[in-house]
Amino acid sequence: MANLLKINEILKNSVHKSLEIRTMQKIDLPTVMDIEHSIQASPWTQLMWLDSTEKSDICWILVRNKALRPNGRSISVCGEIIGFIAFSLCADECNILNIGIKRKKQGKGYGTALLQAAIEYAKQYDVNKIWLEVRASNQAAIRLYQKLGFTEIDIRKNYYSALNLTDSEDAAIYCYSCKQIPQKT
Ligand SMILES: CC(C)(COP(=O)(O)OP(=O)(O)OC[C@H]1O[C@@H](n2cnc3c(N)ncnc32)[C@H](O)[C@@H]1OP(=O)(O)O)[C@@H](O)C(=O)NCCC(=O)NCCS
Repeated sequence: MANLLKINEILKNSVHKSLEIRTMQKIDLPTVMDIEHSIQASPWTQLMWLDSTEKSDICWILVRNKALRPNGRSISVCGEIIGFIAFSLCADECNILNIGIKRKKQGKGYGTALLQAAIEYAKQYDVNKIWLEVRASNQAAIRLYQKLGFTEIDIRKNYYSALNLTDSEDAAIYCYSCKQIPQKT
């Protein structure tokens, strides 16, 4: 898809030369679910992932390519899935539905790169606002969102217990405005 090519071109010209974003395929689900189970309190079920990948949501995997030179001979490229993101585009709005980075790879800028890529992609579709919800206690994610320009809009009390999840926690609703007015200097 031309738009994803554009996003990968941006990544190739950044500090993350070895990263590539690919559309998530069914074959990627076991790895994606393994990663999510190790980092999320309430990971998506296989049915949720299948539903998301098969409908019009956009599901990407973040792959880190490593050049291998077995026996010092020819170079082969091996890709490791290090993260994922799922989001939806509807009219002029985008919703970030899920994002995660493999625990051992967190804190290295990969989450920033992946979310930035989704923002750039959404902008290509003339999206006005990007929405997401996050557990109020999830400081790592909240700092990532704030760093990229998301602002807190609302708090939904006990949102996660209302979804029948075992624990009760508030959700913070964050929004990113794609048509930000540049600040005067
Ligand atoms: C949230 C998440 C995707 C961030 O990905 P990441 O690759 O670790 O993030 P980055 O390395 O790009 O860091 C981005 C910013 O987040 C913040 N951050 C990252 N890890 C943090 C941590 N452990 N504690 C506090 N802040 C943290 C920092 O502000 C960082 O910016 P800085 O390095 O310039 O200070 C990742 O931590 C994750 O997968 N968490 C579990 C799943 C999850 O909570 N998903 C979000 C659900 S809404």
